Amino acid sequence: MRYEFIRQADHIGPVKIHDVCRCLELDSGSDMGNLAKDSAGTRRISREAIADIEQKMAIVLPVRNEDLKVFESVLSGIPHDCLIIVISNSSMDIFKNEKDIVSRFCNVTKRQAMVVHQKDPDLANAFSFSGYPDIIGDDGLISNGKSEGMIIGIILSRLMGKEYVGFIDTDNYIPGAVLEYVKHYATGFSIVNSPYSMVRILWRYKPKLIGELYFKKWGRVSEISNRFVNALLSTKGRFETEVIKTANAGEHAMSLELAMRLTYGSGYAVETQELISILENFSGILEATDDFVPEKGVEILQTESINPHLHAEKGDDHLLQEMLIPSLSVIYHSPLCEEQTRNAIKKQLLDMECLKEGEMVPDIHLLSPPQNINLPVFADNMESIMPRIIVPDNSIFRIAVARNKKTDANNKVVITDLDGTLLDSQNYSYSLALDAIRKLQGLGIPIVFCSSKTRFEQEVYREELGINTPFIVENGGAVYVPKDYFRLPFSYDKIISDYMVIEFGIAYQELRHRLSMALEAAYCQIEANASLGGILINSFGDMTIEEVAKETGLGLKMAALAKQREYSETITVKGNKKAVDVVFDEIKKAGLLCTFGGRFYEVTGGNDKGKAVKIILELYKMNYGNVMSFGIGNNINDLPLLSQVNYRMLVQGADKRWQKLNISGLCRVKGVGPEGWSKAIEMVVAQG
Ligand code: GDD
Ligand code: MG
Repeated sequence: MRYEFIRQADHIGPVKIHDVCRCLELDSGSDMGNLAKDSAGTRRISREAIADIEQKMAIVLPVRNEDLKVFESVLSGIPHDCLIIVISNSSMDIFKNEKDIVSRFCNVTKRQAMVVHQKDPDLANAFSFSGYPDIIGDDGLISNGKSEGMIIGIILSRLMGKEYVGFIDTDNYIPGAVLEYVKHYATGFSIVNSPYSMVRILWRYKPKLIGELYFKKWGRVSEISNRFVNALLSTKGRFETEVIKTANAGEHAMSLELAMRLTYGSGYAVETQELISILENFSGILEATDDFVPEKGVEILQTESINPHLHAEKGDDHLLQEMLIPSLSVIYHSPLCEEQTRNAIKKQLLDMECLKEGEMVPDIHLLSPPQNINLPVFADNMESIMPRIIVPDNSIFRIAVARNKKTDANNKVVITDLDGTLLDSQNYSYSLALDAIRKLQGLGIPIVFCSSKTRFEQEVYREELGINTPFIVENGGAVYVPKDYFRLPFSYDKIISDYMVIEFGIAYQELRHRLSMALEAAYCQIEANASLGGILINSFGDMTIEEVAKETGLGLKMAALAKQREYSETITVKGNKKAVDVVFDEIKKAGLLCTFGGRFYEVTGGNDKGKAVKIILELYKMNYGNVMSFGIGNNINDLPLLSQVNYRMLVQGADKRWQKLNISGLCRVKGVGPEGWSKAIEMVVAQG
């Protein structure tokens, strides 16, 4: 494929919307003799690059009572390496024919496909049981609508381990156009830089029979929807924009990382709502819903196809009632839409007699992000359904999502320190570890945090990363187990909100009291003996939020959470070595333990990470049988953690050195903090 060199893009915070790319050549050759084929002002994407993406892509075909001959010809246009997923809402007799057609096609072409009926009651149950009831109607079945079909397609693509999902309508009369759309999708994904990306097709011509065939450029609905999305965008900056030319692009594709995070409008509001959802969630205009998408940004590529788009015409009523009103409604009801655009939308609908004077713009039912589904549970529920939706019959298939039901031999658990290990020691970012975290989550391997951080600090990271496993707070002060996490009962000390808490530490107030007595005793000795020099000790409990923020480099919000301690105190100690020894001696005499965590000292009532890790591993073993445990740390206070696990790994400190830890079988992983963590995870995945 060869495009005219990609032109300017509009940036709305981290969302980048490219202006439409024109295609110059549908096939621009292979990688062989590569350089000779490049030319200035164009961007060439080789067959190999396109083929690479096609293998990772599922193409979802929504179908509702379409002409079977047309449906069959659409199949023939889908590139061989893409997985075909047919989501049908046709009458049962037509569905039977659709399934026959796909089976025959797959048998002779040696391909595999999934053919699902939207009203399959078992499918509805699988969605309900796995925490995604959004698409279920009052009758307990999945609701009608193309977008409901698309969501099924997105989740099945994920289940099958695909990275991209594309959509193609099945009423398309031109199989060459279908092939071209998928080539654009693959080309687009090989060009963009962000893992959160979308490719939307603009048809160059949509021919109509007006006397003779007339190559019309804009559909009526698209023209109006584009205008209002652009109007909304224009109010967000100082420059008017016309960048959106694909507000209703039925033919579009997304990386699954993006598709799983968007909110969908039911029925035909879907494509416009995708854009609105990206702007609402990731542009930074409203509060971000996700911390790591803005980090890499979202990219929207619009490309213009060459084949004319010819599809079944479904009448004016369908266009206005089912497409235009929902499409404008999602713009109108978005919190991003200000008064001026709202009034203009209302006027447009009144002028077109889609709305009567005094009538409200109808609200559209929104479907929450597919990532809300519990995939392992969904995978379990699909197990019995899969054999009847995979064609050809009896073909072997592989579900890529790790199941909820664990087998006994290969259960892995990762127990990890946070600061300086999973999080960068300076800026507390996990971005370098993100891909590895996602890998573990995809495989269903639990990540257990074990850190000096408080429950409140850890909750922020758990929420951002979608982690719901047990965790160890304040250097082993307590183990927090989410209710219902383990099937079998166990003993715990108290229940706090949604957690069962097993305590090891002494309560913070008592700890502070004992610590102040110990420090008092130390100060007396130091004052009485001038040769010991001076000492300066400060604790999080005595510092203001601002002081903690300054000392740690944390933001104010996180600093406040770091101060909400339950079982330990963090102290800074500055002074001459002899005086420091006196302090540590007194702390020890008071029955307290003081460990160094890399930057600060952690004072506890004798607890360390080891006992807490031991308990957590026992709970895993009790529930899942044999467990293979992996520990990752960076510092001396991780020694007790590492001593409890089967595989112990140490990442490098900021100075690129490993802490000297006296423990056998320690694997020193190359890489500072989160970078080393990612390497450690490669070993976790490879092990066994
Ligand atoms: N699974 C499923 N369930 N598929 C459906 C349903 C449903 O309830 N309703 C329609 N479909 C299928 C149709 O069979 C067709 O393949 C595709 O979804 C699009 O439906 P059409 O009825 O053909 O829509 P359209 O041609 O008016 O609109 C198309 O282009 C618009 C842009 O111009 C759609 O792709 C729109 O979503 C798009 O906005
Ligand atoms: Mg159509």
